[in-house]
Amino acid sequence: MSKRKGIILAGGLGSRLHPLTDVSSKQLLPVYDKPMIYYPLSILMQLGMKDILIISSPEDLPRFKSLLGSGTKWGINLSFKMQKKPNGIAEALILGKNFLKENPSCLILGDNLFFGEKLISKLKIANRDILNASVLTYPVNDPGRYGILEKKNNKPYKIIEKPSKPKSNKAITGIYFYPKNVSLEAKKLKPSKRRELEISDLNQTYLLKEKLSVTELDKKSTWLDCGTFESLLNASNFVSKIQNKQNKKVACLEEIAYKNNWISKKHIKAIIKVSTSSYGNYLNKIIN
Ligand code: TTP
Repeated sequence: MSKRKGIILAGGLGSRLHPLTDVSSKQLLPVYDKPMIYYPLSILMQLGMKDILIISSPEDLPRFKSLLGSGTKWGINLSFKMQKKPNGIAEALILGKNFLKENPSCLILGDNLFFGEKLISKLKIANRDILNASVLTYPVNDPGRYGILEKKNNKPYKIIEKPSKPKSNKAITGIYFYPKNVSLEAKKLKPSKRRELEISDLNQTYLLKEKLSVTELDKKSTWLDCGTFESLLNASNFVSKIQNKQNKKVACLEEIAYKNNWISKKHIKAIIKVSTSSYGNYLNKIIN
């Protein structure tokens, strides 16, 4: 049976976070108490994906390898692939061709944070449909910065990247589900004016074939990207607030793996032994 595989795209320039990103990848910066990449990884794990490809730049890929390793500590299989230059988000699906083989895929951006029980159940629904592509939209105040969904007669009609005169405020979020053979579709794309292979163009091809399903999220769900100083701070504040309120961590990979039965109690105990921060105390609570 074909099983959906995950890809996390964690390269890019991070120029809006200079000087924070001068010697560090954006997706390794802390969002409160964890490296940023833990958050998208936690989403793929919650959706049951065990085979995950991490794509990053030549400078940063070794750092991701040393942080995450093979994934066995969370019962998952991580692979790594270099993106020589930030040639666009859709290039991830070309780079992932050998990894994906004949399987459906889910691409998530390494600086995107999704939160909310309803949101997770909507992602689970999108995850189950392996014959169509699926995207989710979220209402934003500054649509000129995103890929925007336009509707006609109340049906998805067009996806436009960074429109100068946006006709809606529905931004396509940074998680995309595709059926098998997405790499072949991505290979047909031509670079845009800014010389990138645009994910909006790829999604538009599925839309034209009536093979794109769109789920509209509202503000009860949380979608944050961490690309600016303001949004990075907001994300940290959000995680800290939610964790204190719920007395439960967001994106605790060991907890998700344990709940998925991917790792044992014994395994967590071994992690606790080497964890000297309050993270270890939290893991102790989970297994007791
Ligand atoms: P962006 O935030 O659009 O770009 P960036 O991370 O390079 O930041 P800046 O605009 O400040 O220079 O990218 C969204 C996500 O996709 C982010 O996690 C980086 C990643 N990305 C790649 O890994 N490769 C690419 O070619 C592109 C365009 C983005």
